[in-house]
Amino acid sequence: MVLLIFLISINDFHVIPQNSDQEHTASSSPDLLPALRQRKRPEAGRRKLTAMNSDALILAADSALRTLLAEPRASRPTPTPATPSATLSEDERREAAALMRVNHVGEVCAQALYTGQMLASRDPALQAKLAEASREETDHLAWTLERLRDLNDRPSLLNPLWYAGAFAIGYTAGKLGGDRLSLGFVVETENQVEAHLNSHMDRLPAGDTASRAIVAQMKDDEVQHARMAERAGAVPLPGPIKGLMKVAAKVMTTVAHRI
Ligand SMILES: [Fe+2]
Ligand SMILES: [Fe+2]
Repeated sequence: MVLLIFLISINDFHVIPQNSDQEHTASSSPDLLPALRQRKRPEAGRRKLTAMNSDALILAADSALRTLLAEPRASRPTPTPATPSATLSEDERREAAALMRVNHVGEVCAQALYTGQMLASRDPALQAKLAEASREETDHLAWTLERLRDLNDRPSLLNPLWYAGAFAIGYTAGKLGGDRLSLGFVVETENQVEAHLNSHMDRLPAGDTASRAIVAQMKDDEVQHARMAERAGAVPLPGPIKGLMKVAAKVMTTVAHRI
């Protein structure tokens, strides 16, 4: 419901009129790329936060529903530890589950951010790079969900809220800042996620080797996503924006640890 309200509110934010053909998509395929490629390149002009038309809204809603309700399918096997996990005490199980719930929320947000940025961009090469990173984020989504279940726990109850907020940030960054600032946003996000995952390696129970193997592979992937964005021409974000992102991440991780 929160997501629907958010999507409707964005659709009402009409700054410039649009040609109905301009954002036409051929289908609402689960893979965003084929649909995005059907869109015509925009005319040169001043950058504005344009409203999403109904096709783009359908793509956004489709991605949101798949992230929040469908069973994520990983393209790579779940990372396995060199030694099996030890039997965890109840306190250790609860702490490990809370940390993996936070990580799962992070991956829900990653799906939303990349989807928002792909919909905001008109550059097919950039969309392909974002889609490639997004596929690895889907692996992370599936691995963290699987581990949460193995730990007999549940995902965050607020995932629709996290998704809506992250999508709004990704779409707005791409539309208002353009592709290079959007890429700068990827670099800063992935750098913060890497630091966050490093802290989890300190906090996860020593015997929970299964969660540790997943977090270690995720960390390696996030570093590569940041390097990809740098190579693609990312510009550094202003300090206050980085600070705001850290505050938002702190709120999310603190709440998701419990709810
Ligand atoms: Fe990730
Ligand atoms: Fe990433």
